[in-house]
Amino acid sequence: MMRLFVAVDLPEAIQDELAGIGPGIPGASWVNPDNYHLTLRFIGEVPENVAHDVDDALTNVAAPAFDLRIKGVGHFGPIRRARTLWAGVERNEALNHLQRKVEAACVRTGLKAETRKFHPHITLARLRGETGHHLADLLARNNLFAPMAFPVTRFTLFESFLSSGGAIYQPLARYPLLGAAPENWSDDWPVEADAA
Ligand code: 2AM
Repeated sequence: MMRLFVAVDLPEAIQDELAGIGPGIPGASWVNPDNYHLTLRFIGEVPENVAHDVDDALTNVAAPAFDLRIKGVGHFGPIRRARTLWAGVERNEALNHLQRKVEAACVRTGLKAETRKFHPHITLARLRGETGHHLADLLARNNLFAPMAFPVTRFTLFESFLSSGGAIYQPLARYPLLGAAPENWSDDWPVEADAA
Protein backbone atom coordinates (compact mmCIF):
# COMPACT_ATOMS: atom_id res chain seq x y z
CA MET A 1 0.00 0.00 0.00
CA MET A 2 1.07 3.56 -0.62
CA ARG A 3 -0.10 6.67 1.23
CA LEU A 4 -0.52 9.42 -1.36
CA PHE A 5 -1.51 13.01 -1.77
CA VAL A 6 -1.40 15.56 -4.59
CA ALA A 7 0.02 18.99 -3.85
CA VAL A 8 1.62 22.19 -5.08
CA ASP A 9 5.10 22.59 -3.64
CA LEU A 10 6.73 25.94 -2.98
CA PRO A 11 9.86 27.67 -4.26
CA GLU A 12 12.69 28.04 -1.75
CA ALA A 13 12.24 31.82 -1.41
CA ILE A 14 8.65 31.31 -0.27
CA GLN A 15 9.65 28.48 2.07
CA ASP A 16 12.14 30.88 3.67
CA GLU A 17 9.52 33.62 4.06
CA LEU A 18 7.07 31.23 5.68
CA ALA A 19 9.71 29.75 7.96
CA GLY A 20 10.01 33.24 9.48
CA ILE A 21 6.50 32.94 10.96
CA GLY A 22 7.55 30.54 13.73
CA PRO A 23 8.46 29.79 16.44
CA GLY A 24 6.65 31.09 19.52
CA ILE A 25 4.10 28.43 20.42
CA PRO A 26 5.17 26.00 23.12
CA GLY A 27 4.63 22.36 22.21
CA ALA A 28 4.10 23.08 18.51
CA SER A 29 5.52 20.66 15.93
CA TRP A 30 6.81 22.89 13.15
CA VAL A 31 6.81 21.50 9.64
CA ASN A 32 10.25 21.42 8.03
CA PRO A 33 10.18 24.25 5.42
CA ASP A 34 11.34 21.77 2.75
CA ASN A 35 8.06 19.94 3.36
CA TYR A 36 5.71 22.92 2.98
CA HIS A 37 3.05 22.25 0.38
CA LEU A 38 -0.51 23.09 -0.54
CA THR A 39 -2.59 19.92 -0.77
CA LEU A 40 -4.92 19.64 -3.74
CA ARG A 41 -6.14 16.13 -2.89
CA PHE A 42 -5.42 13.78 -0.01
CA ILE A 43 -5.70 10.25 -1.40
CA GLY A 44 -4.63 8.12 1.56
CA GLU A 45 -3.62 4.44 1.42
CA VAL A 46 -4.02 2.75 -1.96
CA PRO A 47 -2.51 -0.36 -3.56
CA GLU A 48 0.40 0.22 -5.92
CA ASN A 49 -1.64 -0.51 -9.06
CA VAL A 50 -4.13 2.19 -8.05
CA ALA A 51 -1.21 4.58 -7.51
CA HIS A 52 -0.18 3.94 -11.11
CA ASP A 53 -3.75 4.56 -12.31
CA VAL A 54 -3.79 7.84 -10.37
CA ASP A 55 -0.48 8.79 -11.97
CA ASP A 56 -1.92 8.06 -15.44
CA ALA A 57 -5.01 10.14 -14.70
CA LEU A 58 -2.97 13.05 -13.35
CA THR A 59 -0.80 13.01 -16.47
CA ASN A 60 -3.96 13.89 -18.43
CA VAL A 61 -4.86 16.89 -16.26
CA ALA A 62 -4.73 19.97 -18.49
CA ALA A 63 -4.79 23.21 -16.53
CA PRO A 64 -2.94 26.48 -17.06
CA ALA A 65 0.00 27.67 -14.96
CA PHE A 66 -0.79 30.66 -12.73
CA ASP A 67 0.57 32.97 -10.07
CA LEU A 68 -0.39 32.38 -6.46
CA ARG A 69 -0.08 34.83 -3.56
CA ILE A 70 0.23 33.79 0.05
CA LYS A 71 -2.23 35.64 2.22
CA GLY A 72 -2.56 35.64 5.96
CA VAL A 73 -1.94 33.18 8.74
CA GLY A 74 -4.78 31.22 10.31
CA HIS A 75 -5.66 28.12 12.28
CA PHE A 76 -8.01 25.15 12.33
CA GLY A 77 -9.79 24.61 15.62
CA PRO A 78 -10.68 27.17 18.28
CA ILE A 79 -7.94 29.69 19.02
CA ARG A 80 -7.29 28.40 22.56
CA ARG A 81 -6.96 24.79 21.40
CA ALA A 82 -6.06 25.08 17.72
CA ARG A 83 -4.84 21.94 15.94
CA THR A 84 -3.14 23.45 12.92
CA LEU A 85 -1.39 26.72 12.15
CA TRP A 86 -1.36 27.53 8.45
CA ALA A 87 -0.59 30.16 5.83
CA GLY A 88 -3.46 30.96 3.52
CA VAL A 89 -3.49 32.04 -0.12
CA GLU A 90 -5.37 34.77 -1.90
CA ARG A 91 -8.55 33.59 -3.60
CA ASN A 92 -7.46 32.19 -6.94
CA GLU A 93 -9.77 30.82 -9.63
CA ALA A 94 -6.91 29.09 -11.47
CA LEU A 95 -6.00 27.20 -8.29
CA ASN A 96 -9.63 26.20 -7.79
CA HIS A 97 -9.77 25.08 -11.42
CA LEU A 98 -6.66 22.93 -10.95
CA GLN A 99 -8.08 21.42 -7.76
CA ARG A 100 -11.31 20.49 -9.56
CA LYS A 101 -9.35 18.90 -12.41
CA VAL A 102 -7.23 16.88 -9.98
CA GLU A 103 -10.34 15.82 -8.07
CA ALA A 104 -12.06 14.74 -11.30
CA ALA A 105 -8.97 12.74 -12.30
CA CYS A 106 -8.98 10.95 -8.94
CA VAL A 107 -12.68 10.14 -9.22
CA ARG A 108 -12.17 8.84 -12.78
CA THR A 109 -9.58 6.47 -11.34
CA GLY A 110 -12.25 5.06 -9.06
CA LEU A 111 -11.40 6.89 -5.82
CA LYS A 112 -14.28 8.08 -3.67
CA ALA A 113 -15.13 11.74 -4.25
CA GLU A 114 -13.79 14.20 -1.66
CA THR A 115 -16.76 15.63 0.21
CA ARG A 116 -14.88 18.21 2.28
CA LYS A 117 -14.79 21.77 0.95
CA PHE A 118 -11.43 22.79 -0.54
CA HIS A 119 -9.71 25.10 1.94
CA PRO A 120 -6.33 25.86 0.39
CA HIS A 121 -3.63 26.21 3.03
CA ILE A 122 -0.01 25.46 3.80
CA THR A 123 0.39 23.81 7.18
CA LEU A 124 3.18 25.44 9.18
CA ALA A 125 2.77 23.67 12.51
CA ARG A 126 0.64 21.12 14.29
CA LEU A 127 -0.43 22.24 17.72
CA ARG A 128 -1.56 20.35 20.77
CA GLY A 129 -3.23 21.26 24.02
CA GLU A 130 -3.81 24.81 25.21
CA THR A 131 -2.12 27.44 23.05
CA GLY A 132 -2.73 30.17 25.67
CA HIS A 133 -2.03 33.68 24.35
CA HIS A 134 0.86 32.44 22.20
CA LEU A 135 -1.21 31.73 19.11
CA ALA A 136 -3.10 35.03 19.34
CA ASP A 137 0.24 36.87 19.67
CA LEU A 138 1.68 35.07 16.66
CA LEU A 139 -1.41 35.84 14.57
CA ALA A 140 -1.26 39.52 15.56
CA ARG A 141 2.44 39.67 14.69
CA ASN A 142 1.78 38.17 11.27
CA ASN A 143 -1.49 39.92 10.54
CA LEU A 144 -0.26 41.66 7.42
CA PHE A 145 2.07 38.88 6.37
CA ALA A 146 1.99 38.74 2.56
CA PRO A 147 5.06 37.48 0.75
CA MET A 148 5.38 37.87 -2.98
CA ALA A 149 3.32 35.89 -5.41
CA PHE A 150 5.02 32.92 -7.02
CA PRO A 151 4.43 31.06 -10.27
CA VAL A 152 2.78 27.64 -9.98
CA THR A 153 4.16 25.73 -12.94
CA ARG A 154 3.56 22.15 -11.85
CA PHE A 155 1.91 19.94 -9.28
CA THR A 156 3.22 16.77 -7.66
CA LEU A 157 2.07 13.34 -6.55
CA PHE A 158 3.67 12.66 -3.15
CA GLU A 159 4.03 9.50 -1.12
CA SER A 160 3.89 10.10 2.63
CA PHE A 161 5.73 7.93 5.13
CA LEU A 162 4.63 8.40 8.71
CA SER A 163 7.35 8.23 11.33
CA SER A 164 7.80 9.29 14.93
CA GLY A 165 10.06 12.12 13.76
CA GLY A 166 7.29 13.51 11.51
CA ALA A 167 6.03 12.60 8.06
CA ILE A 168 8.47 12.18 5.19
CA TYR A 169 7.19 13.26 1.80
CA GLN A 170 8.67 11.66 -1.30
CA PRO A 171 7.75 13.18 -4.66
CA LEU A 172 6.70 10.36 -7.01
CA ALA A 173 5.80 12.28 -10.16
CA ARG A 174 5.58 15.87 -11.37
CA TYR A 175 2.94 17.21 -13.75
CA PRO A 176 3.59 20.42 -15.69
CA LEU A 177 0.85 23.01 -16.07
CA LEU A 178 0.00 24.45 -19.47
CA GLY A 179 2.16 27.31 -20.62
CA ALA A 180 4.87 26.63 -18.02
CA ALA A 181 8.47 26.22 -19.11
CA PRO A 182 9.52 22.62 -18.37
CA GLU A 183 12.24 23.46 -15.81
CA ASN A 184 12.55 21.27 -12.76
CA TRP A 185 9.91 18.71 -13.40
CA SER A 186 10.06 15.18 -14.61
CA ASP A 187 7.35 12.70 -15.47
CA ASP A 188 9.52 9.71 -14.70
CA TRP A 189 8.17 7.20 -12.23
CA PRO A 190 9.41 7.44 -9.56
CA VAL A 191 11.49 10.63 -9.47
CA GLU A 192 14.63 10.66 -7.35
CA ALA A 193 14.18 12.12 -3.87
CA ASP A 194 16.82 14.76 -4.49
CA ALA A 195 15.04 15.95 -7.64
CA ALA A 196 12.36 17.53 -5.43
P1 2AM B 1 -2.90 19.22 6.69
O1 2AM B 1 -1.54 19.77 6.41
O2 2AM B 1 -3.95 20.26 6.82
O3 2AM B 1 -2.90 18.21 7.79
C1 2AM B 1 -0.40 15.09 3.73
O4 2AM B 1 -0.83 14.51 4.91
C2 2AM B 1 -1.27 16.26 3.35
O5 2AM B 1 -2.61 15.82 3.13
C3 2AM B 1 -1.35 17.36 4.39
O6 2AM B 1 -1.24 18.60 3.72
C4 2AM B 1 -2.69 17.22 5.01
O7 2AM B 1 -3.30 18.42 5.36
C5 2AM B 1 -3.50 16.65 3.86
N1 2AM B 1 -4.65 15.88 4.35
C6 2AM B 1 -5.93 16.12 4.04
N2 2AM B 1 -6.73 15.23 4.61
C7 2AM B 1 -5.95 14.40 5.33
C8 2AM B 1 -6.21 13.28 6.16
N3 2AM B 1 -7.44 12.80 6.36
N4 2AM B 1 -5.15 12.69 6.75
C9 2AM B 1 -3.89 13.15 6.55
N5 2AM B 1 -3.59 14.20 5.76
C10 2AM B 1 -4.61 14.82 5.16
